[in-house]
Amino acid sequence: MDLQKLLNEMTVDEKLAQMTQLVPQIITDKGEGVVTGPMRNFGITRQVTSKIGSLLGASGAEQIKTLQDFHLDEDPKKIPLLFMADVIHGYRTLYPVPLGLGASFDEELAEKCCAMAAKEAAAGGIHVTFAPMVDLARDARWGRCMETTGEDPYLNSKMSAAMVRGFQGKDLEHEKDKIAACVKHFAAYGACEGGRDYDCVELGDHTLREYYMPAYKAAVDEGVELVMTSFNTLNGIPSSANKYLVDDILRKEWGFDGIVISDFNAFYELISHGICEGEKECAKKSLDATSDIEMMSTCYVKFGKQLLEEGQITEKQLDDAVMRILKLKEKLGLFDDPYRGANAEDEKKIHLCAEHRALARVAAEKSAVLLKNDGVLPFKKDVKKIAVIGPVADHGMIGGWFCCGTIPEAVSTLDGIKNIAKDAEVVFALGCTADPNEEAAAVADKIAEAKKIAKDADAVVICVGEEIDMSGEAHSRARVSVSDSQTTLIKEVCEVNKNTAVVLHCGRPIAVEKINEIAPAIIVYWQPGTEGGNALANLLFGEVNFEGKLPMTFPREGQSPFYYNHLRTGRPNVSTGYCLGYRDIPYDPVYPFGYGLSYTTFEISSPTLSGNEMTEDGEITVTVDVKNTGSVAGIETVQLYINDVTASVCRPVKEMKGYKKVSLVPGEETSVTFKITVDDLKFHTASGKFEAEKGKFKVFVSNRSDVEDFAEFKLI
Ligand code: BGC
Repeated sequence: MDLQKLLNEMTVDEKLAQMTQLVPQIITDKGEGVVTGPMRNFGITRQVTSKIGSLLGASGAEQIKTLQDFHLDEDPKKIPLLFMADVIHGYRTLYPVPLGLGASFDEELAEKCCAMAAKEAAAGGIHVTFAPMVDLARDARWGRCMETTGEDPYLNSKMSAAMVRGFQGKDLEHEKDKIAACVKHFAAYGACEGGRDYDCVELGDHTLREYYMPAYKAAVDEGVELVMTSFNTLNGIPSSANKYLVDDILRKEWGFDGIVISDFNAFYELISHGICEGEKECAKKSLDATSDIEMMSTCYVKFGKQLLEEGQITEKQLDDAVMRILKLKEKLGLFDDPYRGANAEDEKKIHLCAEHRALARVAAEKSAVLLKNDGVLPFKKDVKKIAVIGPVADHGMIGGWFCCGTIPEAVSTLDGIKNIAKDAEVVFALGCTADPNEEAAAVADKIAEAKKIAKDADAVVICVGEEIDMSGEAHSRARVSVSDSQTTLIKEVCEVNKNTAVVLHCGRPIAVEKINEIAPAIIVYWQPGTEGGNALANLLFGEVNFEGKLPMTFPREGQSPFYYNHLRTGRPNVSTGYCLGYRDIPYDPVYPFGYGLSYTTFEISSPTLSGNEMTEDGEITVTVDVKNTGSVAGIETVQLYINDVTASVCRPVKEMKGYKKVSLVPGEETSVTFKITVDDLKFHTASGKFEAEKGKFKVFVSNRSDVEDFAEFKLI
């Protein structure tokens, strides 16, 4: 397709419509239609909708083919629609929410999961997913922690690149089972004040670039096709109209030449932000920031032409944006085959197929984090009676952004346990609800019933925490602990049966200090997806071992934000006196980043270095010996951290610079090495450069971030 020729032939209205994304109802609605909610009164006509460039929210081969036909019938230039959707942790077969995937510390797994999602989505007619979401999340209160891989720039960057590879494959043009990825939400959406979703973000350039930017950059370097700007203001300017962010950093500094799309209605919200008087100004400011597609508002189509006639914008600005959109359509092969991978037969074959379910199960197993185990787990295989208790035990825990997945298609904990413990009697009681404000007194009878079934059981599993709709967008929480009723349920059940494991479902870190005091075993199980129950049953009965590690610090109530790689202060915490911390709670979090137990134990030696000096072009090898000192096989995630002892800018107490997984049978020992080069030591210095500064560096290697033992070398 000669795209330049096509562009030359397009009218201004056609160009502006290409730059607009709406939902299917709006294009197919031939009548008046009632437009509600954030869609407001678009005030546009069929003149516009017939030429629209992309749709969000459609799914399924049949629906998408029908919509494409409908559109091509009407569009004067016959430019196929792009179909975009939120394929966040699977399309129909769901794997754990991204925070759970982060806990796997397994990039290969993340890539495979996204490839599976792409395959299912492509068969369902989707061309673009609004993923990966890689916002750095340091505040457990933020509802959208569940959508990201956590608090660490290094881990997030690795996962970000892996997910882009998984969705897009190597050759988007020829691989019809791949879809284009859209990294989001650019930028620093996770730094919203107080963890309140949508609130403003104030970050100095140093913090922005050093901690918040790397994961977006990793996606761009991996060739991500689209970038979505975020809802928040960054230092006073909302991202969709933030020229510094989009044009200066993303396009000019990083060389991104793909599509920039706004978030839902975000152009229009520039009015609420108070930086635009009306839609015309929204269009002008967003286009000046080089935003290409306006999602779910209509400032471009309504005012673009007028702005052009008044000389406030240029046709070149429009052409650049439209060309980027046409190029993606061409790359996806839509001009030759506007249906692309959409195929109802394939949907039937692929969606929820055994292979995909197996991958979702493995992903769920690898995402689970064992926080505590006082010898309760694994349960013996010959148990006669198992009590399964709790408000989130009897239905599939698929997590938010479940796309085309459904709860009934997912395996609950109750069913997973029934599937594995075929000869045992499995009894169930609700105990309470997951309502965070529920008082124990209100459900005393339910708790009593749970206690009763737990009393004579050989093993008890209590599933508490958050329902699937308690985290995600617009679901920030001021308090991140579980309710009084859930805590009381755990306490009362543990009083009558010590053989109890608590399974915590959550889309964010939960303040577990109370549960920690009363429960003999605790598992963090996020929102595990379609195969959640089967995977959990495998873990509980020791069919597979735990290997997940916390991708976010688990803080105490009132401690958020808390993250391991915080800066050093003049007054570090020394437990008393005028030092860092609170007076009413201890300084340390309940569980640190990188923490997670196994059914076996590992011993990791102190790190030894290949030398104690390194030149700019040299390298240092760090070696530790890792031994499986327990009685079953297991996988350990060996983590490398460094600390720049003295620098022109205050550096974090520790920063992750690598991790490696080792699989060892009992008694087996291996050595694990990491290479440190000057690139690992670079940061944004006081002189504004990204470089390493000479001096001392501490090196830590462990299976958790709160390690103290270190070796030291000098960069000379
Ligand atoms: C969310 C995005 C999402 C978009 C489209 C917005 O509300 O912030 O993450 O991709 O909706 O569904």
